[in-house]
Amino acid sequence: MAEAEVGDDGFGEDPTVRALEERYAELVGKQAALFVPSGVMANQIALRIHTKPGNVVIAAKRAHVVLYEMGAAAKNAGVQFATLDDPDGFITSQQVAGVIEGVAHHLPQVNLLCLENTSMAGGGVVWSTQRFGAVVAAAQGLPVHLDGARLFNAHIASGTSLADLARPASTVMSCLSKGLGAPVGSLLAGTKEDIGLAADERKRFGGTMRQAGIIAAGGLYALKHHLQRLHDDHDRAKRLAEALFDAWPQADVDVSRTETNIVLANVENDAEVLAFLAKAGVLATTIAPRVIRFVTHLDVSDDDIDQAIAAIRTAPVAS
Ligand SMILES: Cc1ncc(COP(=O)(O)O)c(C=O)c1O
Repeated sequence: MAEAEVGDDGFGEDPTVRALEERYAELVGKQAALFVPSGVMANQIALRIHTKPGNVVIAAKRAHVVLYEMGAAAKNAGVQFATLDDPDGFITSQQVAGVIEGVAHHLPQVNLLCLENTSMAGGGVVWSTQRFGAVVAAAQGLPVHLDGARLFNAHIASGTSLADLARPASTVMSCLSKGLGAPVGSLLAGTKEDIGLAADERKRFGGTMRQAGIIAAGGLYALKHHLQRLHDDHDRAKRLAEALFDAWPQADVDVSRTETNIVLANVENDAEVLAFLAKAGVLATTIAPRVIRFVTHLDVSDDDIDQAIAAIRTAPVAS
């Protein structure tokens, strides 16, 4: 990063940013890509380029773009969501077809389908290309935005190429700063035309950076050196899930659904348990009342998992 060649990315003149954008576009099989400061900004830009205020966006009830972006979709894009139940992290083609059918019955025009792979609130489960393709087909040609914040995890867990995972989507975004371990940044990819519009929207959000090659270099490094090691995160999450299943039988931990780097546990006394774990040096968080989320990543080693398991075994979980 210190040695990165830089330029003014506001003018598209930063060679390191350009290299990163080209690399991501190539990996996900799209014409062009745009480097942005965060995953939320990438999602918000996608909403702005695919919709107009008043439009309806189909998404899973617990999608990040619905629940975890501070109502930004309403504020930034003026859209409303048609949310669909996603008990296991997935929505179905029947659910999507049901929303589209409503248009013929005085229900609002639908303009975008948003999907999330892996599904964060689903515990990091991976959308297969078959499942993804079927839901996209039910959307009957609507634009599709793929929130692939953790698409790299989906790719490593499934062995399916990033391009195949992203193929049915009009735009796809991924975060470099999650499991991949880069300090800053996300990427949004799509057609040249969409990415041109996205660059204008990035400017409107104040997200156009100047000598951003310094941080883009971290992203390039992460793509080169940290992709394959996501297997380790997935193995560690599995170990954690097995230990949680044994130690907290009442917490509904599903070891077989721990496919990537997220483990969810349902705990009545979440605050007490999180405080206990934090004292033992194990940081986790809640993503909903009584739902604790553990995430493995670049900075979590096998020894750290041992430490977490020891703390989990003695945590005061209410029965
Ligand atoms: C599924 C999903 N989408 C988008 C984001 C947003 O990423 P960022 O935190 O970089 O804005 C996150 C991050 O938590 C996420 O989990």
